[in-house]
Amino acid sequence: MKSETIHRVKSLSGGLELPGDKSISHRYAMIAALADGISEFRNFAAARDCHSTLGCMKSLGADVKLNGSTVQITGHGLRGLKSSWRTLDAENSGTTIRLLSGILSGQTFTTKITGDASLQKRPMKRVMTPLREMGADIRGRDDNFPPLEIRGGKLRAIHYQMPMASAQVKSAVLLAGLYAEAETSVTEPAATRDHTELALLEFGAPLRKHGRTISIQSMATGNGTPALRPLSADVPGDLSSAVFFIAAASLLPESNLFIGNVGLNPTRSAILDFFNQMGAGVSIVNLNTKRGELIGDLSVKGAQLKGGLISGDLVPLLIDELPMLAALGPYTEQGIEIRDAAELRVKESDRIAALAENLKRMGAKVEERPDGLRVEGRAAGKLRGAEIDPHGDHRIAMAFAVAGLGAEGETRILDPDCASVSYPTFFQELRRLAEA
Ligand code: S3P
Repeated sequence: MKSETIHRVKSLSGGLELPGDKSISHRYAMIAALADGISEFRNFAAARDCHSTLGCMKSLGADVKLNGSTVQITGHGLRGLKSSWRTLDAENSGTTIRLLSGILSGQTFTTKITGDASLQKRPMKRVMTPLREMGADIRGRDDNFPPLEIRGGKLRAIHYQMPMASAQVKSAVLLAGLYAEAETSVTEPAATRDHTELALLEFGAPLRKHGRTISIQSMATGNGTPALRPLSADVPGDLSSAVFFIAAASLLPESNLFIGNVGLNPTRSAILDFFNQMGAGVSIVNLNTKRGELIGDLSVKGAQLKGGLISGDLVPLLIDELPMLAALGPYTEQGIEIRDAAELRVKESDRIAALAENLKRMGAKVEERPDGLRVEGRAAGKLRGAEIDPHGDHRIAMAFAVAGLGAEGETRILDPDCASVSYPTFFQELRRLAEA
């Protein structure tokens, strides 16, 4: 099996620009296919996940042109999608299948959508429940898993009180809401990333937010609401990809890293506050807003990390960063503890189990719990290089590549290409910035 070998290095220094944000790219691609005209996105995500979304939108009749990292999408209006004779393939992407389920529920045709072995194990009931309440007919394997068959139709407007804090569920309901008969609203139990809301507003959708409730007016009932307008936008760099480099630079004392043009949306940036609370040297320079999204440059210096606890409402705000934080645990003074994060068990892999297994391989002291884990800090001993099995999960592969930079001996990351799901050039960039 292919592997990538990581050695101990002294520092991570230099400048880095990241591929476009994965969450924003998915949303721009889907909504552009529903707009009237040609949208253009520069620095569109290189992530394989977002290219799965582009493939699905093409199968649904959108005209997609790729030129490097620039994507042009011609939409033919809210009613412009066409039925696909083949089953759509979301590959590894939960965001693709869950958000598209919302859009497909509003169509006048039936669509089948599936994904790879990992996606076929991920729960879809969370989107099936509200979309069925709106009137869609959705079937899934064991009434929960892909492949899904979505028979769209006339949708009722609902008010959905979400039982869980999930941006994907919120987004599926809001996108279906474009097709409902009146105003659809969603109330979330805790804040989650709001890229769907910001993108819908930029495309001209009638969306309002009050507290934790977001409402959207139907645009498909011929009530005089104008069509979604096309959008031209630069996608900010992906903060969730930046975090691996922020962690690496923080853990290596002589590091001095500059990361340009990073998305700093407040529903994503709690990770930076958490790093600084741990004693990291991360500072934001040059803040500005584009297309509703906050963007800035980051400077990161090596530091002594204290460690800490992540629980409660903080969890959904840095959900994708938990693998990296857990893998940093052994380098911190007090260790890292994660609670209230059972969701990690139904991500691209069972991330709690994958973290515990691989941390133990490297000699860390870990207690695995149903909703999280406790990783002991420096006093429990130094990490040793080991063979890492990422279980096909991009964030597990990248988190342990970073952990390997400070470990004694060689770390071998198996199946390193799985990183391309979010960051195809991750290992190249790591090699470029690492100083032995
Ligand atoms: C995402 C939402 C989160 C996150 C995922 C991307 C999105 O999932 O983990 O990587 O783009 O909406 P949940 O909505 O399941 O928390």
